[in-house]
Order: sequence, then structure tokens, then C-alpha cells
Amino acid sequence: MLWYGHLPNRQELSTLETRFSREHVLPNQVIGFLKGESKVADPLSALQTSVSILGGLGSRNEPSLIDSSIGLTARMPTIVATYHRLRKGQEPVTPRPGLGHAANYLYMLNAKPGRPEHVHALDSYFTLLADHSLNASTFVARIAASTLTDVHSAVVAAISALKGPLHGGAPIYVWEMLQSIGKSENAESWLRDRLQKHDRIMGFGHRVYRTEDPRSRILKELARQIVDPSLFELATTVEDTARKLLREQHPERPIDVNVEFYSSVVLHAVGIPPELFTCTFACARTVGWTAHIVEQLQDNRLFRPDAEYVGPEGLTLEATPPGTSA
Ligand SMILES: CC(C)(COP(=O)(O)OP(=O)(O)OC[C@H]1O[C@@H](n2cnc3c(N)ncnc32)[C@H](O)[C@@H]1OP(=O)(O)O)[C@@H](O)C(=O)NCCC(=O)NCCS
Repeated sequence: MLWYGHLPNRQELSTLETRFSREHVLPNQVIGFLKGESKVADPLSALQTSVSILGGLGSRNEPSLIDSSIGLTARMPTIVATYHRLRKGQEPVTPRPGLGHAANYLYMLNAKPGRPEHVHALDSYFTLLADHSLNASTFVARIAASTLTDVHSAVVAAISALKGPLHGGAPIYVWEMLQSIGKSENAESWLRDRLQKHDRIMGFGHRVYRTEDPRSRILKELARQIVDPSLFELATTVEDTARKLLREQHPERPIDVNVEFYSSVVLHAVGIPPELFTCTFACARTVGWTAHIVEQLQDNRLFRPDAEYVGPEGLTLEATPPGTSA
């Protein structure tokens, strides 16, 4: 729907599913790169460079924009899973035809099919995070696309923006926070201490929402269904306590839970290791990034914001730099 602007009919859906199973497979050049890098690069950097390599290989054939978008979206989870297995000294697992996108990701990570409730949760996560208007990474993708660069290069730019902890880098910090708090009774003192130090509570706040992020409601419900009850109880206590303390600190400004808070809990429950949380976000968001690129190029004009100079004026070049003698 995001790529074509309408929901597919059965025939279109089946064609797309066939394309996905065909395109999931990685070219040898990317596997070779991942083998070489598996001991050094962080997972998101490895993913980003793999996207760049795919772009370099694909540009020779010049497929259509939507074809490139489908191919890239299909391959993102294969890159992440291949890299992860190589890092652990395991053989990569080839995608299994007939499995859906989320199911294949879990299959390739673990070399066995995921439990149905885990596949459902990850599928829902992929759908919820597929697009979210002009968030920082999507905006970056559109800016890059507006120069008429290729889809892969625009996605490489988007991944750079996603990486930061204020955007897609947040869920690993949410997970570390939950680990560090450990038990519900520690939540209030831990959070108060962080707020007194003017630290940000990860998984809270949003540039646009002035209320709970509606995606977090669905993720919380998914978490309730699949997460270990003691972890769910800890997460809800941290959520309630952080909301209360943030209200005390910022009575003028509602700061509520965002999509990243329960994402981290759900991703952990389906078996995604924390170091792959942001990569998994990138897999989901590739649909949105590429759909925005397609839309941008339908009626493109180069982004070029104006800037107002507010610095000193009337400067003159000194004959001799200050502090030196002639
Ligand atoms: C998302 C985020 C970057 C939005 O930033 P923003 O729009 O500039 O934030 P606001 O305008 O709401 O900030 C207002 C005040 O609340 C504070 N605040 C905002 N989010 C906060 C958080 N999560 N924890 C503690 N304080 C927070 C700010 O520091 C600011 O305080 P100040 O006026 O004393 O400087 C910010 O909320 C944040 O850093 N959240 C944590 C990271 C995160 O979860 N990112 C994923 C986003 S989906």
C-alpha cells in the first residue's frame, strides 16, 4: 500500500510475496563483505555498508524505483541475520521460500521457525514501524532523494539518522535501563536519580506527540501477551513511575511513553538480541523510507532551506595574526 498507494488485490499480493521470497537472497559480494567485517563493525554500520554495496551492484541494471525498493526491503533482514550469525561463528541460514517477511527474519536468525505468537508480534512490529511521516530519518531520505541520487544511497543516509539515540538508537538504552533497574521497587529511586542528573529517560518524549504514542499502546498489548510476567510488571512500573516523575519535573509539558519503550520489550521477547534492535527498526522502516523516496520523486524539487546569517559583520583581515610579531 505504501509503495503503490492502494491495498493490493490477491493477485498483486501474491506477486509481491513471490518477489519477496526471490529477493531475500544476498549476492556473494555482500556475504563476502559481512564475513570480513563480522569481528569489527557494529551491526548497524555493517547493515549500512551492505546497503551501499547492494546499491553499487544494482545500479548497473537500473531497475525501477519500486523494484529497487522491494528488493532492498526484502534483503534487509537477510543482511542483519547473516551478519549476526557470522559474528557468532555460525553458518548463515538461507531464507526459506513460503515464509512471510517477519517469519523469515526469525528463521534466519535462529535456524528454526519462530513460534507463531512471536511471528505475529514481530509482524505487528514491522507494520507499526513501517512509516511515521517526516521523522528525522525519513526526512533525510527525502532530502537525499531530492538530489536524484539512487534509492540505496538515500537509505544509507536515512540509516545514519536512525542510528542516533534520540531516534532509532533509543531501544537498546531502554533495554539497558530496564536491566539496570532490575526490580520494580528500584524504579522510583533509579529514575529520580537520572532526572536529578538531567539525563533523558529513554523511551519517553516525542518531538510531535503531546500524549502517549499510539503505537506504544499496541506494542504494550503485544508485550502483555508474550513477555515473561515479571518483566512485563517491571516495564509497566517503570512506565508509570517515569510518567509521574516527568509530570512533576515538567508540569507544563506532557512527556509520555514513545514507540521505543515497548519495542525493546517486544523485540527481546521474540528473541532479537539488543544489539540488533536498531537494525530491526531499519528493516521495518525501509518500507516507509523507500515509499517516501518514490513519492518525493513523483514531484521532485531539490530541498534547499534558506539560512539567515546572524554572526558578526564588518570583519577585516588582520595584517598579522593576533599573538604573532611582524
Ligand atoms: C524525543 C525527544 C528527542 C524529543 O525532544 P524535544 O522535542 O526537544 O523534547 P521537549 O521539547 O519535549 O523537551 C521539553 C523538556 O522536557 C525534557 N525531556 C524531553 N524528553 C525527556 C525525556 N525522555 N527524559 C527526560 N527529560 C525529557 C527536555 O530535556 C526538556 O527539558 P528542558 O526544557 O529543561 O531542557 C526527547 O523527548 C528525548 O530525548 N527522548 C528520549 C529519547 C527517545 O526515547 N527517543 C525516541 C523518540 S521516538
